Amino acid sequence: MKSKLEQIRKQAQEALEKVSDSDALLNLEKKFLGRKAELARISKQMKDLADAERPLIGKLINDVKRDISSIIQKKRSETGGVGKSKEFDYTLPGLRPNIGHVHPIMRFLEKIEDIFMKMGYEVADGPELETQEYNFDLLNFPDEHPARDTQDTFYVDVKDSKGREKLLRTHTSNVQIHAMKTRKPPVRILVPGRVFRNERTDAGHEAIFYQCEGFVIDENIKITDLMGTLELFVKRLYGKEAKIRVRPHFFPFTEPSVEVDMSCLLCKGDGCPFCKKTGWVEVLGAGMIHPNVLENMNVDPKKYSGFAFGLGIDRFMMLYYQVNDIRLSYGGDLRFLEQF
Ligand code: PHE
Repeated sequence: MKSKLEQIRKQAQEALEKVSDSDALLNLEKKFLGRKAELARISKQMKDLADAERPLIGKLINDVKRDISSIIQKKRSETGGVGKSKEFDYTLPGLRPNIGHVHPIMRFLEKIEDIFMKMGYEVADGPELETQEYNFDLLNFPDEHPARDTQDTFYVDVKDSKGREKLLRTHTSNVQIHAMKTRKPPVRILVPGRVFRNERTDAGHEAIFYQCEGFVIDENIKITDLMGTLELFVKRLYGKEAKIRVRPHFFPFTEPSVEVDMSCLLCKGDGCPFCKKTGWVEVLGAGMIHPNVLENMNVDPKKYSGFAFGLGIDRFMMLYYQVNDIRLSYGGDLRFLEQF
């Protein structure tokens, strides 16, 4: 094998020596370094070699490849580059580079941020790998409370400092607590982010999706402030025809709590798979921040009150762009993505 390799090196040197035009150079490059070249064939036989021999032959193969490549490089600059002509034809049409663009979810998120920033909100961020303490305890989920199960949590095989399993955050509400570690009321905060739930997927559900949390804490904040904010938000986003309806609900971290539905803009209320034939789509949960949660934020509930809401970005995005299946957002199919 050794002598064979030396022979290839010699043959290549001789053949390349004589070359004077770039086409012939290209052919020789293929002949000696291409996929079907003798060298490539020998490389494939490496696995059959004895252990002692393999490193030596491996090194020799690399040396020979490097030598041949460097001669080709040198020759290429002498013959004036690749292709038939030495001249550059600047009348040829250019190649348009294929540039990607912002994902519809991110683009939509920017719209949401824009609307809330105009209302004086700042944007905050927090961890996706979270402790039970921040995802649940500090948000007033009692231990062993069934509400912990409603969120279909993905637990992760990593322990926190107290020896409890960490989890993938099930909502962006964890950032309510994180953000208030470094702030004092009055605050208006918006937290867009990715959340995780062990859900069965269908046209309207995914296991990984985006939420946007918003919360306001100040003196004298009332539930009417929450309603006004949400109403203004949907109208700014979708125009006057967008309607919301509010249903009483339960969240451990808000009291009272509501769930807010929006009129389905895909079927205009006639009923379709996306709205489960009801004409309404559940888009957010909200409520007045529970006094226990305010205390966990070191905020005095006698002096301050606040509202919080968490909206599902994906669903809002789908209503906005008239997309009828959430799974399209995460499939990476360019035929879909290029429509935005
Ligand atoms: N975190 C809740 C959820 O994911 C939504 C929510 C946020 C509800 C803030 C009330 C207040 O379902």
